[in-house]
Formats: sequence, structure tokens, C-alpha cells
Amino acid sequence: MKPLVPKRAPTGPVTHPGKRKKRLYLVTFGCQMNEYDSQQMAQILHEDYELTGKAEDADLILVNTCSIREKAENKVYSLVGRFKRLKEDNPCLVIGVTGCVAQQEREKILKRAPFVDMVLGPQGIPHLPRILQEVEEGMGPVCFAGLSRDYCVPNLDAPLPEPDPVRAFVTIMQGCDNFCTYCVVPYVRGRETSRPAGDVVSEVARVVEQGAKDVTLLGQNVNSYGKKASGFPSFARLLEMCSRVQGLLRLRFTTSHPKDLTPDVMECFRDLPNLCEHLHLPVQSGSSRILRSMNRHYTRDEYLCLVDRLRELCPEITLTTDLIVGFPGETEEDFEQTLSLLEAVQFDQIFAFKYSSRPFTKAARFPGQVPEDIKARRLAQVLELQKEIGLKRYRLLEGKRVEVLVEGVNKANPRELTARTRGNHVVNLPGPPELVGRMVEVTIERACLHSLRGLPAVPSDKPRVRSDHGIDPHVCTFHNP
Ligand code: 5AD
Ligand code: SF4
Repeated sequence: MKPLVPKRAPTGPVTHPGKRKKRLYLVTFGCQMNEYDSQQMAQILHEDYELTGKAEDADLILVNTCSIREKAENKVYSLVGRFKRLKEDNPCLVIGVTGCVAQQEREKILKRAPFVDMVLGPQGIPHLPRILQEVEEGMGPVCFAGLSRDYCVPNLDAPLPEPDPVRAFVTIMQGCDNFCTYCVVPYVRGRETSRPAGDVVSEVARVVEQGAKDVTLLGQNVNSYGKKASGFPSFARLLEMCSRVQGLLRLRFTTSHPKDLTPDVMECFRDLPNLCEHLHLPVQSGSSRILRSMNRHYTRDEYLCLVDRLRELCPEITLTTDLIVGFPGETEEDFEQTLSLLEAVQFDQIFAFKYSSRPFTKAARFPGQVPEDIKARRLAQVLELQKEIGLKRYRLLEGKRVEVLVEGVNKANPRELTARTRGNHVVNLPGPPELVGRMVEVTIERACLHSLRGLPAVPSDKPRVRSDHGIDPHVCTFHNP
């Protein structure tokens, strides 16, 4: 959970002379898509609202929610419950719940938390000012949770209220048609819709002009970009178009579905100089039987072939993944297959989750639901194994000289900077704040569990130094289960 806070004191003129801007406290749960949506909301409201980092000071509180797992959903209710007291002190305070829980629960939120003034699904963002006005005029509470087939990212030319000095995210498509049997996303984000390539490239150019050096293209399944409609370029072609934006130092994309990862997209890692050598490729399970039951449309071996090919094209590529343990029907043997896949692939990082039953999904009704204690034990085992693998992978960088982009001052230690390699490793290093936004060459001194320590910070004007993991693709015998 993260409040979107102002990065510096507001300096711009207030749009309505004589009238103070109202204050918006905006909390975001969940994925980067939600972070992007939160920025859109802040941008839509920026004429009338400025961001505050304190809920107590707010005129409007928006909680942008995630419903991917039950735990995320419960957190939303407990946070919103805490705001009830603020409303008692300040009856003019407007409280809104937005995002995926809003879409999933709709009016139920208003029943459970009657002090909430508005409930707004992800596709309601462009309607936010109108809905807010209705609430302010006493027409609340309002629930807007429609799903439409039209692409709904408002194309706003105004600069973001507080642009990140280094990284930016650009949505290229929304929704999902895959219906993985465990996943609520297709029900709360609707059908897959791609954004016109011209809009995407213009937005990339705009954020680069505003100072972003590292841009991530976002979508629930970016690899199926434009496949449903005519007149759209392929995703590989879109990557090429974005990579040519003047001044863009680093390009990334997420999330990919293995079934749609085409050879031309993989070749981009070899061919596009500013496409960073990192791919997040969720595998979910190492068992082909479970993958079938998840409706993933690939087998364990097909996934491993993709890994082989990616490392052949780009030996230094960093791979990360998502995993679910305790999916209904998962036996010890299936689980062992997941552990052996981790050994075979050697991911730099994984995001592992206990299966969580979600409304509307097919798997919620599958037989063989796995008891909580077994899920917890399997999760611990997966994390333990990955701890070893991740550290081994990170240690391959020790002593290497790599190029990093400095993203900010380390929050825990203001005399330190936090930076990122092209391979998406976080590097902490000593250095002055003036280096934020600059490329720096560092020698990796030490590998930690999820980060690296680098020395010293020397600004570099060289455009590109690939980190070298020294993995020889022929050494990895991927197909042995
Ligand atoms: N239970 C557990 N994990 C889930 N994910 C999606 N749905 C569920 C669920 N019902 C995980 C998947 C996905 C990531 C974003 O969240 O691993 O890739
Ligand atoms: Fe969910 Fe599957 Fe779509 Fe990813 S591809 S958003 S896991 S349904």
C-alpha cells in the first residue's frame, strides 16, 4: 500500500485565483497498472486538487484497490475503516474506493462501509470529475462500475502533477481475455483492448520530454497487443517504434504471457539497443498438469524452450516470474515439478503466492482445494529455494562493472542513492543527490538478498554497458525435470 505523495513542495499557480486547492490523499494497492491509474486520477483532478501525504489534511481520499488475492482485498476494508473516524471529524470529507475491488464488490462496499461516498471501477476513471461533482452536490453515494469495450485511458496532455524524475509507465492495453482459471482480472478489468500505437508513442515521447529516462510499457498481457483488431502493429513493431523515441535510454515492458511471447518479440532483446535485458515471464507452476488446469495454454517444456531461446538471443537477460502454490488439485509431485523448474531456470527473482480463491473464477469451484497449512509450507519451501538461487545469481555480478540509472535517494539512508541495472537489479551506492536521473558506472561490491551494493558512483556518458551474468546458455540443461 502506498500513498501517492508530492515529490516536492507544490510551486505552481492555483488555477482558481483566491481559492485554495483542495487536498487529495491517494492510496494505491496492487500492480503497476494501478499505480498508473492513480497517476491518471491525480492528473485528471490536478486543477482542483493537490496531493497530500496526510489523510488527516485531505478533502478527498481515494483508495485505489487490488482484488487479485483475498488478502489484498481485506487490507482495503481495514484501511477504509480507519478513515471513518476522519469523516466523523470532517463531514465534508469525500471518500472514494476505486479500482478492482470497487469493480468486483460494487454496491456491497457501500453496504459494508456506508460512509464511503463513491465506488468507481477502473474504467470509470475518465468520469471521475463528473462523479465527484455529483457527490459534492449531495447526490451520493455514487457507484460507477461499468465495463465497456472502448479503450478508456483518457489522453491527457497536461503534465503529471508530480512526474517521477526517472521512471515512467505507459499503458498500451487494458483488460484480459485469457481467463486463467484462478484469476479475477478478466472480470474486473474487462476484455482486452489495445491503445492506438500513435497514442502510445506520443505518450512515451511526452514522458521522456518531461525527464523520464526509463519507460515501462504496461498491460495485463502486453504480448497480445493489437491482435484483436485490424490496423494495429504487432507488439514487436510497437516496441521498435517506442525504442526510437529520441532521448529514451531504457525501455521495458510487463506483463508477458508465455503463450503469446512470439519469436519477433524475443528478437527485440537482441536487436533494440535501449530495450533492457529483463523479462518478467510468469510461469505460475512447473507442472504441465496444473498449467492445463490453470488454462495457461503452455506446458513446462514449452516454457523452458522460451527460456532457452531468450538466453540464446540475449545471454545476459534477467528472468523473473510469478508462481502460485497450492492451486486446487496440486499434489506433492506437481509441487516438486515447480521446485525443479526453479532449479532449471535460475530466476533472479520470483513473486510467489499461495492460491487464493476468487469470486467468479472457475478454480474457486474446483475439487481438491489445498489446505492452508500445506499451502503455507509449500510457499516457505519455494521461497527458501529461491533465496539460494537468487543470491547465487546476484553473486555473479560481484566484481563486475555495470551501468546503473540513479533513481533516487535511499529512503532508509539519505546519504545513499538507489539505482537500477538494465537487468532490473536494485543497486544501493554512496553518492550525492545530484546524481539522481544520471547514468552511473559502478563496480558491484557485494550481493544481498534482493539488492546489490555498488562502489563508487562515477557519472557515465556511455550510452550502454550491458550487465554480464556470465551465464552460458549451453551449460543450463533446461529440459531435465
Ligand atoms: N491466487 C494467488 N495468486 C494469484 N495471482 C493471480 N490470481 C491469483 C490467485 N487467485 C498471482 C499470479 C499473477 C500475479 C499477478 O498474481 O501469479 O501472475
Ligand atoms: Fe489473470 Fe491470466 Fe489474464 Fe494474467 S493472463 S491477467 S493471470 S487471466
